Amino acid sequence: MFNAIDRRNTQAIKLERYRDQPVLPMWVADMDLATAPAVQAALEQRFSHPVYGYTHPWPELNQAVVDWCAQQYDWHIDASWILWLPGVVPSFNLAIQAFAQGGRVVVQEPNYPPLRAAANHRGCTAVPLSVQFDGERWLWDWQQLEQELAHPDCHLMILCNPMNPHGTVLGDTDLERLGQLCLQHQVLICSDEIHCDLRLDGGQHCPVGRLDSLRDHSLTLMAASKTFNVAGLGCSFAIVPNDEVRARYQRSGLDLLPHPAFPGYFAAEAAFTQSQDWLDALRVHLRANRDRLAEAIAALPGLTYRPQPATFLAWIEAELPAGELMQHFVAAGIMPSDGKDFGNDRAVRLNFGTDRDTLEEAIQRLSDYWRQKMPS
Ligand SMILES: Cc1ncc(COP(=O)(O)O)c(C=O)c1O
Repeated sequence: MFNAIDRRNTQAIKLERYRDQPVLPMWVADMDLATAPAVQAALEQRFSHPVYGYTHPWPELNQAVVDWCAQQYDWHIDASWILWLPGVVPSFNLAIQAFAQGGRVVVQEPNYPPLRAAANHRGCTAVPLSVQFDGERWLWDWQQLEQELAHPDCHLMILCNPMNPHGTVLGDTDLERLGQLCLQHQVLICSDEIHCDLRLDGGQHCPVGRLDSLRDHSLTLMAASKTFNVAGLGCSFAIVPNDEVRARYQRSGLDLLPHPAFPGYFAAEAAFTQSQDWLDALRVHLRANRDRLAEAIAALPGLTYRPQPATFLAWIEAELPAGELMQHFVAAGIMPSDGKDFGNDRAVRLNFGTDRDTLEEAIQRLSDYWRQKMPS
């Protein structure tokens, strides 16, 4: 089901930017895999009608999200809490504009570049919360977190769960603890959970809005885009249980952000109502890719990859001078994302959301290069 697809001539960013270089494109976080058949069928059916006018979300679409949240996360939401938005990046930027009051915004580091940049772009101050490997998983220092949340100019934290690039999944206990701190210091949480349906080892995701402590102090940002590989359709949603928070957020974006373009709605509905089997199979495929990659990297001295429980993104590190690891990957014929853009210039982020043959090709290139150039 997850065979190689020729993406040439689709103007995909992932391929176009480096089309003149002999590299396998493994950077931008979309997958080289076909979306779920039901999603494709829904899009084809809609496109077969020749009028592409303004389109608003409809009750069955909202119900699809309500049911998805109940089935997947045991989160029982009301349809009125859902706000459709044209992407997660504009959504967290809007949250900063609406709630940060020009102050300090706590945000994990390393992190997805637009998350790192958002506070400063919106006239606020990003306060990096360092995420370190604690021997078991990547997490922040709770003391530092509390200190930052207690600052009188801090009104908002932007969370990324599961984390990009580390793939750490925060569990109920972590989130409870975080929720209590936010409550105590009256800090709102805007949680980017775009990767939450890509848990590769099972287990249930806990959206921040499901916690009693965070229900009235949170915006949960989600989308079908990463999971069902429809990121180019520009469609996501925020779930905001508290009426006042939702109204303020909505007011803030009024006539500023476009509505999502209609194909994203159709894709989301088909994804959430007809594609569970496909998703189960995708997780098996990605898990096998992750494990294969981990096995291959473990055989290359000097490289460290700690297989992550979620996402199709591998965070690979090396004790080499700044920037060198990226250069080695490119010289080996592979284009990952440069760790520097995430806040660590001794790491790269490799996208393994691809077919098995492409992954094997990447492993072969890296292994050959590493054995030749980096004798142990
Ligand atoms: C954590 C995270 N948030 C947001 C996005 C992009 O969201 P959107 O395309 O909906 O703006 C990505 C894409 O890689 C991501 O990894």
